[in-house]
Amino acid sequence: MNPPAIAIDGPAASGKSTVARLIARELGYTFINTGAMYRAIAWYLAQQGVPATDTNAVISLLPGIPLQFGKENSISTVLCGGRKLTTELTLPAVNDSVSVVAAIPEVRAFLLQKQREYNKSEPVVMEGRDIGSVVFPDTPFKYFVTASPEVRAARRAAQGLTDSIDERDKNDRSRRCAPLTQAPDALLVDTSAMTIDQVVQLIINDIRLKLAR
Ligand code: CDP
Repeated sequence: MNPPAIAIDGPAASGKSTVARLIARELGYTFINTGAMYRAIAWYLAQQGVPATDTNAVISLLPGIPLQFGKENSISTVLCGGRKLTTELTLPAVNDSVSVVAAIPEVRAFLLQKQREYNKSEPVVMEGRDIGSVVFPDTPFKYFVTASPEVRAARRAAQGLTDSIDERDKNDRSRRCAPLTQAPDALLVDTSAMTIDQVVQLIINDIRLKLAR
C-alpha cells in the first residue's frame, strides 16, 4: 500500500495552491503542484515556437522534452534543461496555452506516471484538476476546493495577474480526458467566505479523523 495521498482539486484561483501548501507543511507531507507540470510543457512549447493547438507536433516532441521533476524542501520543482522554472510558469503565453496542452490525452498520460511516482515512497498533498478523479481514485482524502466566480476573479487580480481564468475553466471542465470535476466522494469546500486558515483547519480535521479510523 502507498503512503497517504491527499487530493486537492478545484478551478483556477480557488485558493487551492495556498491551502494545499499549508496542509502539506502542517502534516509534514510533500507538496506537489501538478499545474506546474502542465505549465512547464506549455512553456517549453512556446519557447520552441510550437503552437499548443498543433497536437501532432506536441505529441512527437513530448518524449524529448528535457524536463525533470524533483522536490526541494518537500515542495515539488520542475526543471527544464537543468534550469529550475519559476516565474516562467505564469507568463501570459503559458496562461493562454496551458489548458489546450492539458487537454491532450498523451500529455496527461505522460504526466500521470510522474505524479503517481511521487507517492510511491512518501505521503503527498497533490493539487490539480483530476487528482481525486484520475491520479488517486482510491484515496479516501479528496477535497474539491472552490469559490464563487467573483471571489476567484478578485483573488487573481490581487495577485497582480491578468489571466483569463474563465476561459481556462471552460476548457478544463469540457475536455474529454480527465476533465475538472468533483469526484463523487470528494468533500466540497466553498472558500468564498472563509479565511485560508479556516479552510486549512477544516481539511486537516477531516484528514486526521480519517487517519485515526
Ligand atoms: O493557476 P491555477 O491554480 O489556476 O492553475 P494551475 O493549477 O497552475 O493549472 C494550470 C492549468 O493546468 C489548468 O488550467 C489546467 O488546464 C491544467 N491542469 C490540469 O489539466 N490538470 C491538473 N491536474 C493540473 C493542471
